[in-house]
This record gives sequence, C-alpha cells and structure tokens, in this order.
Amino acid sequence: MKIQIINGPNLNLLGVREPGIYGSESFEVFLPKLQERYPDIEIDYYQSNVEGELINKMQEVGFTCDGIVLNAGAYTHTSIALHDCIRSLRCPVIEVHISNVHQREEFRHKSMISAACKGVICGFGLDSYRLAIEALSPLS
Ligand code: DQA
Repeated sequence: MKIQIINGPNLNLLGVREPGIYGSESFEVFLPKLQERYPDIEIDYYQSNVEGELINKMQEVGFTCDGIVLNAGAYTHTSIALHDCIRSLRCPVIEVHISNVHQREEFRHKSMISAACKGVICGFGLDSYRLAIEALSPLS
C-alpha cells in the first residue's frame, strides 16, 4: 500500500511556527516515526508553499497511489482549484488539520475542499496524520 502525504503552505515551518497551536515538533522529526509505525505502508512526503505545485503533485500520484493525506494549510479555505483537482483523481483524499479549525477564527471554519474529500480529520495535533493513515488502511 502506498500513501502520499502532502503538506501545503507554511507547514515547512512546523516546530517553529506558532508552537502553541501547531506544537514544537518538525515534520522531519515526526515523519520517520510515522513510517516506523507502519512498516508495511509506503508513506511518501511532499511539501510546497505553491498552490499549483500541490496540484501538480496530486495529479502525479493521484492515479496510482492508494490514498492522499492532504493538509492544504490556508489553501483549504480558498482553493477551488484544489477542490477540482481532488475530484479529478482516482484515489481517495483525506483532509487533515493539526489544529481544530472550528475552534479558531471564523475564516477557518469554511473548507473549500471537504466536499471533494473522502473525510476530514482535524484537531489531534500531528496525530491527525496517523489517524488519516488508519482511515486509509481498513482491516479488510
Ligand atoms: C491548518 C489550519 C489552517 O487554517 C492553517 O491555515 C494552516 C494549518 C492546520 O493544520 O491546523 O496552515 O491546516
């Protein structure tokens, strides 16, 4: 099984960026732990701050991998292009957020991509990514 994690804008700054909200662990430290936890799943990682590059990556992997775990960052709240892209793919996409966006500013309550995704996981810190992997790898 092959799962692609895709992180959008400013998520390269995890560990440094607003640690009170996003925690103090970088994704580079977190990812190997996640990969170790699921040795039978190939977990690939991509991050970009650029909307079009996220779309290019989704199109590249979205017809061959078994699922995408997408934290689109602030593009979640604005991007019809990401919505359209998710709808175009063959594999399921799980929308993930580290923070509980519904407890935060009003502008984070609306997601442009949720309706195109298989499901949404938010508010569990970096564990949101693990829960999304669980969601993509059912027992049977
Ligand atoms: C985020 C929530 C978004 O509102 C924000 O713009 C982010 C991170 C999260 O993981 O909690 O960049 O997607």
